[in-house]
Amino acid sequence: MSLFAISAVILIGCFMLGANSQPEIPSSPEPKVAAAAPNLHEAFAGDFEIGAALGGQTLSGSDSTAMPLVATQFNSFTGENCMKPQPIQPEEGVFRFEEADNLMKIARESGANVVGHTLVWHSQTPGWFFKDADGKPVSRELALKRMRTHIAAVVGRYKGQIKQWDVVNEAISDNGSEWLRPSPWLKAIGEDYIAEAFRAAHAADPDALLLYNDYNIENPGKREKTIKLLKSLKEQGVPIHGVGIQGHWGLGYPSLETIETAIQEFGKLGLKVMITELDVSVLPAKYFGADVSVQQMKEEGLDPYTEGLPAEVAQQQAERYRALFEVFLRNRDIVDRVTFWGVHDGQSWKNNFPIRGRTDYALLFDRQGKPKPAFNELVKLADSKKK
Ligand code: GLA
Repeated sequence: MSLFAISAVILIGCFMLGANSQPEIPSSPEPKVAAAAPNLHEAFAGDFEIGAALGGQTLSGSDSTAMPLVATQFNSFTGENCMKPQPIQPEEGVFRFEEADNLMKIARESGANVVGHTLVWHSQTPGWFFKDADGKPVSRELALKRMRTHIAAVVGRYKGQIKQWDVVNEAISDNGSEWLRPSPWLKAIGEDYIAEAFRAAHAADPDALLLYNDYNIENPGKREKTIKLLKSLKEQGVPIHGVGIQGHWGLGYPSLETIETAIQEFGKLGLKVMITELDVSVLPAKYFGADVSVQQMKEEGLDPYTEGLPAEVAQQQAERYRALFEVFLRNRDIVDRVTFWGVHDGQSWKNNFPIRGRTDYALLFDRQGKPKPAFNELVKLADSKKK
């Protein structure tokens, strides 16, 4: 890049940072849309917030199935992608806040809170963070500087408006005895990248609740590694306030006992627990992150419900959701929020993960936006506890 281009990027960056220190978003949300009954977040009022992740189509208003549900069912929203490092700072110093601002606006209109997701992650983070001007691996100092600049800009823009941040996402390793994931952040900075990320987020907004977020951390092996991390952060006086258990689960896994033990173990550390990305897949859990041919899917019965969800499976899912919520309710002193990863089945990432192109039914609303048996079961559960 020429000197001129570099200066231009720096200038644009400074301009954007400057402009961002005075967010234009008004802070007192006024609900515009009347709530329809029954509505989930009111059903669980006093227990925990009920959230949903909003993807690009919902944020642009083009998903008309999602909009009425967004306006009524939830009191917390997470951007499915819009606040991740790649979309929000695709090039150094070039911040794209349009979609994230849109999320703030939608939340304001339905009187909901916003969860910032996510600041430091190995995935969906542009490569420039980890390369120096000569294309060589970045030094610790430069990586730290870039991480702090990113956090200060993003958290700073929404200071006082976003009350919870997933500061670090998925830092624990899935592999045997390996503790931390060999993320580019770990390679560039060392183990203290996690502590430094939390310190930077706290400096940018001292009132925000700061979370560590990860998947499968309810399972004993990963749970122990997570506890080791959380304890060490607490001992160092790092500002961390909660743990996000993602909750990408299935009809039969993990066990309720596993989930409850994890919630309580994290709670014992003095941390809040959020269920941050809940969905219950009804499909066979085989092959991880795989591209599987249509032929193989047929032969192995991997995509069994392309013509619709059989009533008995929908019922099984309803019971599973009920049982999960019973666990959350029993631990409502620890669990402060339950967020679904999507609004309706048609937009769930589970249709493409771990195998692309299947028809899953992981959420509470169907492809037409109608409540499924699982939704009705949760409303019934909420009613029964009021009696
Ligand atoms: C992880 C991330 C989320 C999202 C999901 C898939 O759980 O935390 O942001 O990318 O994977 O949608």
